[in-house]
Amino acid sequence: MKIAIGCDHAALTLKNAVREHLQELGHEVRDFGIYEAGEKCDYPEKAAEVARFVRDGGAERGILVCGTGVGMAIAANKVRGIRACCCSDSFSARMTRAHNDANILTFGERVVGQGLALELVDAFLTTEFEGGRHQRRVDLITALETEETR
Ligand code: RB5
Repeated sequence: MKIAIGCDHAALTLKNAVREHLQELGHEVRDFGIYEAGEKCDYPEKAAEVARFVRDGGAERGILVCGTGVGMAIAANKVRGIRACCCSDSFSARMTRAHNDANILTFGERVVGQGLALELVDAFLTTEFEGGRHQRRVDLITALETEETR
């Protein structure tokens, strides 16, 4: 799978661990940085870069990491077509794929350890959207985007 990843200065170590994990699994990773300790980054800008890349079809999924994961999710969700979910438990990471067809996962380096983070990634990447009644609800989210941007 093609996966876009990104982080701010609060999450470089965990983002790099995610990149290695994805590469070991054979995924094609596009790393939007940051790349160096000491590099500063405003999370809304990184979220926008990755979210737009996913929206435009450059990657099937995105993973964004910041201190909490929350700011990245809020910002990514401003991009039309993006359904980003901030998770710190595997059940939510699985269900946001199964029911919400989420295309971006976010989490926080200050919240989850590396072991749990990689479990979240695995749950998110291996769960298929169930469609059916959930498709209608995802369509309602899409309709809401259109209504709100008129
Ligand atoms: C940066 O200090 C921090 O605010 C950011 O990484 C993130 O947690 C925001 O939601």
